[in-house]
Amino acid sequence: MGCSLLLFATGAAPSNTSIFSPVSPPADTIRELFFLVVAVCAGILLVVEGVLIYSLLRFRRRPTDPTTEPPQVYGSTPIEIAWTTAPALIVFVFVLVLFRTEFKVRVDPERDLAGGQPLRVTVIGHQWWWEYVYEKYGDDEIRAADGQPLVTANELRVPASESGVKRPILLTLKSADVAHSFWVPRLTGKTDLIPGKVNTTWFQTDRPGTYLGQCAEYCGTQHANMLLRVVVDSPDRFRQWLDNERKPAAAPSNPELTEGRDVFLRTACVNCHRVRGTLAKGTFGPDLTHLMARKTIASGMVDNDPKELRQWVDDPQKTKPGCLMPAMKLSEREIDLVVLYLRSLK
Ligand code: CUA
Repeated sequence: MGCSLLLFATGAAPSNTSIFSPVSPPADTIRELFFLVVAVCAGILLVVEGVLIYSLLRFRRRPTDPTTEPPQVYGSTPIEIAWTTAPALIVFVFVLVLFRTEFKVRVDPERDLAGGQPLRVTVIGHQWWWEYVYEKYGDDEIRAADGQPLVTANELRVPASESGVKRPILLTLKSADVAHSFWVPRLTGKTDLIPGKVNTTWFQTDRPGTYLGQCAEYCGTQHANMLLRVVVDSPDRFRQWLDNERKPAAAPSNPELTEGRDVFLRTACVNCHRVRGTLAKGTFGPDLTHLMARKTIASGMVDNDPKELRQWVDDPQKTKPGCLMPAMKLSEREIDLVVLYLRSLK
């Protein structure tokens, strides 16, 4: 909250991360709570400052009687009672409203979703990127074509709701290393991803578009660049995307791509990255099976274009100092080949 207030105060908040333009019920509820708290606090400020200014003027020192002391008052029971009960009541109301907000924001993922078509995704926080495991859409278990889990990274694709069919996005939050926090201001509030603990959050929107978010819990060197994007698609486009994601990686269609794939497969890349349909089965880094379906790399830091991708493959430390991927010390030609191959993973 402190950070968003600061952004608000300086007017620097990009509109796509503003808590003031929610498009999802939890974000809506949080904005309501924010306005209520600000309104009550503004009321308190007015009353306190009003009494203070009145007293300053009414009881100011006057030149007419410089020697006499004003009447000395040693307490007043009615006033004591008033200024004890009023704040207690205000706190009590805030507690009730907070419970109501919590109830709306933290939904039980197993509650009745009659007529709805929930999408369930497990989100795993890593230093410094997001892993998404697609679990279930409506009643259908989501698996890749070869039966493996369907895993992607950093850009969360979800379907939009429609008037007839609600499509709540139910997220299970876990961490692979340290504490992170999932925060997409226009969709839902912050929820921590804590090692050894499972948290949940959710959102739901009928407005397709890309919503930006950010890790909101300090998690090390590149915390500030642990960005995330939520792409809300129409249900049809989401289906298309999902069907494509299910497929194994495209096989190389020419000798150069085959050479690129072979460089990739004989380098340490495969220890950390998975490309379904090949021998690359690493799970430590992002799944690259359909890398080109993502608009950005390095957890939303830079565009997924040939130049940035080449720089990344050459030396990730130049783009994202401190990140856990080392430079592979490939030759210029090998870098070109690997980039060519990665560019074919549509
Ligand atoms: Cu992850 Cu901060």
